[in-house]
Amino acid sequence: MPRDNKTPLIQKIARQAYDTFKGMNASANGDNKGFSDKQSELIALVTAVRAGDLKIAPRKTKPGSGAAELQSPPVTYMHICETDAFSMGVFLLRPGASIPLHDHPGMNGMLKVLYGKVSIRCFDKLEDNLTVTAASPRFEPPLAPFQTGSLRRAVLRAVGEYSEDSGPCLLTPLRDNLHQIDAVEGPAAFLDILAPPYDPDDGRDCHYYKILQIAMEGGVDVKGNQEGEGEEKEKDEETWLLEIPQPEDFSCGGEPYPGPAVSI
Ligand SMILES: [Fe+2]
Repeated sequence: MPRDNKTPLIQKIARQAYDTFKGMNASANGDNKGFSDKQSELIALVTAVRAGDLKIAPRKTKPGSGAAELQSPPVTYMHICETDAFSMGVFLLRPGASIPLHDHPGMNGMLKVLYGKVSIRCFDKLEDNLTVTAASPRFEPPLAPFQTGSLRRAVLRAVGEYSEDSGPCLLTPLRDNLHQIDAVEGPAAFLDILAPPYDPDDGRDCHYYKILQIAMEGGVDVKGNQEGEGEEKEKDEETWLLEIPQPEDFSCGGEPYPGPAVSI
């Protein structure tokens, strides 16, 4: 048997992630042959990973644990490893839990479901630091004066459901960089690789956003869409976002990673 078969899959993924992203400038688009070959190999490894490879399984709710369940955070994170090139861990979502809309400034990402099903909505950010002008749409509810410097314009790029048999969902500094993740029909878990890792000291802090509703006037919005007409064209529609503090109903706890040790 070749020796490589003894290497846990998650260790191979970590080595390949390091090899793919090491020395990569966060501002470069990585559009070269070497990078894309390495990234393809990483995608193949990540596509193959299953919950059992990390020794995780959907948590069974114990009878009588209702109160404790309510107090535990809706989302928890298992840290696997972090280098200057990438971070890797597992997010676990309770039934009905959501990771609110957030960004990954200057970062690449790869998200692979391990169990359950998640719905992911991906956005591209168009412009930063917009202020409300006379040409801006009216929002419903109206913005408070202190909020008008936190506007962003974005485009909804994709809405998709992912399960363990799906390939990874990818993001880059420019494409699908903002996303919201919702657990669908029960608990879910996904492997998350970010390159480079979040680092507030290096301009890579996580920001949260709220999707603003444009006020309808006489059944017609500012683009002339009749009420309800815009819903089918939701994909690739421009959206107005408001940067907000971390939502109060969202918190992320930590728990130990039970899988094979990873070293770089
Ligand atoms: Fe994310």
